[in-house]
Amino acid sequence: MIKIERLYKSFGNQPVLRGVDLNIPQGKTTVVIGKSGSGKSVLIKHILALLRPDSGRVLVDGREISSATGRELGRLRTNFGLCFQNAALFDSMNVFDNVAFPLVEHSGFSRAQIKQRVEETLTAVGMEGTEDKFPSELSGGMRKRVGVARAIVHRPQIILYDEPTTGLDPITASTINDLVIDVQKRLGLTCVVITHDVAATFRVGHYIAFLHEGVINAYGTPDEIENDPSPKLREFIRRGRAG
Ligand SMILES: Nc1ncnc2c1ncn2[C@@H]1O[C@H](COP(=O)(O)OP(=O)(O)OP(=O)(O)O)[C@@H](O)[C@H]1O
Ligand SMILES: [Mg+2]
Repeated sequence: MIKIERLYKSFGNQPVLRGVDLNIPQGKTTVVIGKSGSGKSVLIKHILALLRPDSGRVLVDGREISSATGRELGRLRTNFGLCFQNAALFDSMNVFDNVAFPLVEHSGFSRAQIKQRVEETLTAVGMEGTEDKFPSELSGGMRKRVGVARAIVHRPQIILYDEPTTGLDPITASTINDLVIDVQKRLGLTCVVITHDVAATFRVGHYIAFLHEGVINAYGTPDEIENDPSPKLREFIRRGRAG
C-alpha cells in the first residue's frame, strides 16, 4: 500500500532519515517505534508529502506522493485519515461540526448525508449522542475518540496515528488502543501508528518497525520483534516495559 524507498532527510547539517526502506501492507496495522527525536514524525510527514525528501521516494498505491504537487497531491491525500500528536479539535465548534468538517470541505455530500455519516461515525467510536457538546466539555480520552471520528469520517483507505495515547492515563490509553484495533478491523483500513508506548505496540501491531539512527533497525511481526537480537531494540523494549 505504502512503499518507502531509500528515504533521506536532513535539517541543516542534522541527518534525521538516512536511508529508510519500509513497506506498509494493505489492510494491516504497522507500528513505527523509536525513541523521542528519532524521526518518527518526520517519517509520517513524508508519507503525506508534508515534508519532501532530500532523496528517495514514497509510493502510495503505486503512485509517487513524494514528488506530487497540486491536484494530484490533493487527490493522493484524500486516501488518508490523520490523527496527529497535536491535532486539536476546533474549540469553537461542537462535536458534530468538528467531525463533519472534512466532509463539508471536500465531499459534496448533502446536509442530510453529512448528518447520517457523522452519526454513524460517532457511534463507531463510542461517542454517539455527544454531537452538541464542545471540546472543553469532554475528557482527554473522549477528545481522542472525536479526533479518530474526524479522521475516518470520509472513509479513507489509510489512517495515520501519531502518538494516539500520549497524555492519557493507562486505562484510557488502553481503551484508545482498543478503538484503534476496532476501527482498523471494522473498516479494513491500512493503519500506521507511531508511538513509543511499548505495550500498545505489541497489542495493535501486525507489523512493527523500529526506527533507530535514521534507518529501520528491526522489522517484523510482534513475535519476530520479541525475538529480534538488535541490542538497541532490546534496550528500547526493556526500558519501555520498565516504564
Ligand atoms: N521542520 C523541522 N525543521 C528542523 N528540524 C526538524 C523539523 N522537524 C523535525 N526536526 C528535527 O528532526 C528530529 C526528529 O524529529 P521528530 O519530530 O520526527 O521526532 P519523533 O521521533 O517524532 O520524536 P517524539 O517521539 O518526541 O515525537 C528532531 O531532532 C527534530 O528537532
Ligand atoms: Mg513525534
